Amino acid sequence: MPGNSNCAVREGSVVESDNVQKYYDNTDTDEFYSRIWGGEDLHLAFYDKPLEEQDIRETSTRAVHWLSRLLFNKGALQPGFLGIDLGAGYGGSARYLSSTYGVQIDCVNISEWQNRRNTEITEAAGLSEFVKVYLGSFTDLPCESNRYDFAWCEEALIHSPDKLKVFQEAHRVLKSGGLFLLTDPLQKEISHEELVPILERAHLVDMGSRDRYRKYASNCGFELLEEIDCPQALIDTYGRVKMELEKQGKQLAKEGLCSIAFQEKMKAGLQRWVDAGQQGKLTWTVFLFQKK
Ligand SMILES: C[S@@+](CC[C@H](N)C(=O)[O-])C[C@H]1O[C@@H](n2cnc3c(N)ncnc32)[C@H](O)[C@@H]1O
Repeated sequence: MPGNSNCAVREGSVVESDNVQKYYDNTDTDEFYSRIWGGEDLHLAFYDKPLEEQDIRETSTRAVHWLSRLLFNKGALQPGFLGIDLGAGYGGSARYLSSTYGVQIDCVNISEWQNRRNTEITEAAGLSEFVKVYLGSFTDLPCESNRYDFAWCEEALIHSPDKLKVFQEAHRVLKSGGLFLLTDPLQKEISHEELVPILERAHLVDMGSRDRYRKYASNCGFELLEEIDCPQALIDTYGRVKMELEKQGKQLAKEGLCSIAFQEKMKAGLQRWVDAGQQGKLTWTVFLFQKK
């Protein structure tokens, strides 16, 4: 990938950048994700014991381990292989993959705040040689075609108003035979009226579905290797995060890091996601695609 962590977000990405940065690049949200969600990961996970007994950060790391085995089992995580993390957050998954399997990863993220934190943690972990952080949009990847052995996109596609373009870009930058691991919260049978307040929590424009992602992938020239539906992970993760916010919220507000107004809105939003999950209206699905 040319350039460095300062590489610019291109024109076409400005609208997405606005929405996402409005959501992520402010103290309220950043402190919520770094203090409540564990500071390395911003994704869903499998809670197999009573929620309160499980640490969010450890459970998130276990989910990354589980997901990584899907790629590993297909031979895509060999030492020296090069991957791209589309919407990399704080880079927890990239560091895990790199330190566990010896692969190199380019993190692409449109959030400057998260990139800063990703860079700091990656440097502190001594992984800067293997994990690179780039500012950019996954709808317009700042890199050449046929470059990567694998692509990883965890709970990030949901933010894009142009989800097909992200599939096209993932396909473009992968080598022939390269693997694309995608996870995302998805809508099932749900009315527009019910969906709107759910989207509101993270300033989302819409939500994908299993059919839609299968269709996009196939149109771009991907073969579907695996599709694993995990609705309980959605219910448990948002429930556990809400629980943690209730526990730590007062202290965060006291430190001036996360306003009460933000917390109340977030808790109501999280509860809406839990309720919709329990009603079978939302799910979380893991896809593994291969570029033909
Ligand atoms: C829920 S977080 C998931 C982060 C990370 N994948 C993880 O699992 O920890 C969604 C991420 O997508 C990033 N994102 C959203 N829109 C993007 C875009 N157009 N290009 C690149 N990254 C984007 C956000 O900045 C954020 O880092």
